Amino acid sequence: MVSVAILGHGVVGSGVAEILLTHKQKLFSRIGEEIYIKKVLDLREFPDSPIANRFTKDFEEIINDLEIRVIVEVMGGLHPSYEFVKRSLKAGKSVVTSNKELVAAYGAELLAIAKETNANFLFEASVGGGIPIIRPMNQCLVANIVDEIAGILNGTTNFILTKMIEDGMQFEDALKLAQELGFAERNPAADIEGHDACRKICILASLAFGKHVYPESVHTEGITHITLEDVKYAEKFGCVIKLIGRVKKLSNGKIDIITAPMLVPAKSQLANIDSEFNGIMVRGDCTGDVVFYGKGAGKLPTASAVVADIVDCCQHFKERRFLFWTDGNSSNIIHVNESIFAMYVRVKGADSIAKAEKIFGSVQSISSNGGNRVAFTTEELPYGEFTKKLQQLAADGVEICSTIRIGNL
Ligand code: HSE
Repeated sequence: MVSVAILGHGVVGSGVAEILLTHKQKLFSRIGEEIYIKKVLDLREFPDSPIANRFTKDFEEIINDLEIRVIVEVMGGLHPSYEFVKRSLKAGKSVVTSNKELVAAYGAELLAIAKETNANFLFEASVGGGIPIIRPMNQCLVANIVDEIAGILNGTTNFILTKMIEDGMQFEDALKLAQELGFAERNPAADIEGHDACRKICILASLAFGKHVYPESVHTEGITHITLEDVKYAEKFGCVIKLIGRVKKLSNGKIDIITAPMLVPAKSQLANIDSEFNGIMVRGDCTGDVVFYGKGAGKLPTASAVVADIVDCCQHFKERRFLFWTDGNSSNIIHVNESIFAMYVRVKGADSIAKAEKIFGSVQSISSNGGNRVAFTTEELPYGEFTKKLQQLAADGVEICSTIRIGNL
């Protein structure tokens, strides 16, 4: 029997307990031992739970229990998750987490501790919910030099954008629905302002390029400024709007990494990834594009990835899994102004296209409302150059309503 403890009995934690109980036989046949939930840490009471008598409010009971070999951190947030995970790894216990905020902030440090104490620190569920992505990148694609990763990495925002695109639903209503369905973070600002997607692309970039990429070094925009009008213009340009996390390796050895809403051409593999589904494209130098698709949020999909990591820990107590990157800083990341994109711009005002062409050269435009409301797209240019030209356009009397990058995906 392998004893495990689960820290947190929220959406994901209760899903992990549910799978461990309902899939007991299947998991037993895989590792030859029962995975026994010895303790669950939560400040709340769960009298109706089938394991109600195993709840505790005291982490000390767990860390001091020598029988508990795997600790599953599914509380979310940085504190006290960081302290609990660090202590667990230092005590030589293996840790499984779904906590992307924790891995994005402290991954390098925690991996180093795990290496020191010969413990496993696994976090498949931290990116893409139920989609296998960490393990495939770390194992199956290991022969490749990764050139680019681009993905729809946040289920909540993808759900909101899908509702806006398909049902013409207002932003606020769609967010409320996503919260009710259990996709959103405790504080949904992390979803809609892009931080959750940013943490996930940072984890993938760290894994792909071997050095920790901290979220603070990454230009991040959310979807709060996206309007139904933009959604409709995007469609007229043959695109859909998606929140994209993207990292690209440049020929000078640096990386170009960003999280932002983008117009994605309808023919792109990422364009048809809707609702709470996530899609991640990994471009390897040997494989070309490999695309991972599935449910990126929700109780059982995310818990499924957590349980797979628990099984992996149970199979690798003696010989730890190799999953590692070293600490890094922002010196290998280019500034957002150097990043090259074609841009979508929505404006108001008479003669705005003629004025835009004077500044940007030839543009593609679509107008409505008798020519007073217009959207246009530019050729590719460095973002810093784009913002300067945009200021010239505004100085020329054109009202700028919104700008969105166009993803070459
Ligand atoms: N809030 C996250 C999302 C949950 O919507 O994708 C999964 O990480």
